[in-house]
Amino acid sequence: MLTQMYALALTASKQAYSPYSHFKVGVCLETTSGQLFSGCNIENVSYSLTLCAESVAIAAMIIAGEQAIQRLVIVSSGIDFCSPCGACRQRLLEFATDTMEIHLFNPAGDCRKHLLSDLLPYSFSKKDLAI
Ligand code: THU
Repeated sequence: MLTQMYALALTASKQAYSPYSHFKVGVCLETTSGQLFSGCNIENVSYSLTLCAESVAIAAMIIAGEQAIQRLVIVSSGIDFCSPCGACRQRLLEFATDTMEIHLFNPAGDCRKHLLSDLLPYSFSKKDLAI
């Protein structure tokens, strides 16, 4: 499954619309039911309107009626591993299982695995609202 996720993320990265940064990001997320959703970054001339690849994949997941992410793969056109930005860590947390894994692949195909809880410690989550 990880190999398939890597392939889908790589394909997604090639669809990135990034004429300003020239930095292509592709992701593939896996839900607890085993469904896969991919996304790429979509930039805008009004830079702050840019959508990160993670946001696009989350939107596809929500439209399909899924809400629980257990794994995410991220690839990019950069020279190193591409970690999710701070805002996307929070977006992912909204739908993450407690043990959600993030697998980063560099262009050479090496993999680094993290837990979302390690990348976003002491997070603010829906549990804090206690409603
Ligand atoms: N980018 C993502 O798509 N995801 C991340 O987590 C990091 C950054 C994109 C946004 C922008 O199009 C480009 O990478 C450079 O910041």
